Amino acid sequence: MTTEVLIDEAAEQAAFGAIIEADSRIEPRDWMPAAYRKTLIRQISQHAHSEIIGMQPEGNWISRAPSLKRKAILMAKVQDEAGHGLYLYSAAQTLGITRDEMTEQLIEGRARYSSIFNYPTPTWADMGAIGWLVDGAAICNQVPLCRASYGPYGRAMVRVCKEESFHQRQGFEILLTLMQGSPAQREMAQDAVNRWYWPSLMMFGPPDDESPNSAQSMAWKIKRFSNDDLRQRFIGMLVPQAEVLGVTLPDPELRWDDEAQRWHTSEIDWTEFHEVLAGRGPMNVERIRNRRNAHDDGAWVREAAAEYARKQNEKAVAA
Ligand SMILES: [Fe+2]
Ligand SMILES: [Fe+2]
Repeated sequence: MTTEVLIDEAAEQAAFGAIIEADSRIEPRDWMPAAYRKTLIRQISQHAHSEIIGMQPEGNWISRAPSLKRKAILMAKVQDEAGHGLYLYSAAQTLGITRDEMTEQLIEGRARYSSIFNYPTPTWADMGAIGWLVDGAAICNQVPLCRASYGPYGRAMVRVCKEESFHQRQGFEILLTLMQGSPAQREMAQDAVNRWYWPSLMMFGPPDDESPNSAQSMAWKIKRFSNDDLRQRFIGMLVPQAEVLGVTLPDPELRWDDEAQRWHTSEIDWTEFHEVLAGRGPMNVERIRNRRNAHDDGAWVREAAAEYARKQNEKAVAA
């Protein structure tokens, strides 16, 4: 390596550091450290996969939603998640990975996505619990990402977050309606909250002392708050809402600790989290199988689009 190249790289590194320091944004054409690029590709593509796989547990209920209104709302919500996946795949593409590569990683089971989507949705109340708890946790995680140092990611998150707050309210409203219904409906709502509560707390990732990459992500201003801080913030949001709903959060230890100024909770079952993440959750195999089948079924659409583009190009050249 020549001295000139070394000086250039040092200058680039300094310029990058200054942008981060100033809370400004890194854009696709800017120089960035290879590790920053790699971290973003991993995080944004995992996020995109989560949105796409996340369509399945709710898609399961579109044909069985209890009224036309509920069906229209649920369809719009699931469609929003597809849109979130697409903004995020586009943001990841600006870092130099192709959509095809990301799709391949997902359907071959090499990519990760949020472990929450590997749980089943046996009842209608699950649609309420997912909106309230899963989209609620997503909001807590994603609002700070609107200020992520990488421009395309932060900007995509702004729109995503607006839609997530609609998702959360629709889930809350489903649960509220059930809680005002018959004893069987109330029981169904409580049962769904019991099943989704702990997995939703796991959505913030492992505890801070077991989250080795967090410090670097925070230094790069991709991540703004630690996993445990976000989890605390989420619990603080849930407690008053649970009271309005009349549901019980399934943790007998849950209480505000005035001295520590934080929520005291029971121990989270991290073994379950790691099992599901490793592909051994109740629905992992089915989720990937469905995604692979959908990809195969869509081959003709991709071929037709490519052929159309080729013909248009031919015409343009001829003209
Ligand atoms: Fe989403
Ligand atoms: Fe959502």
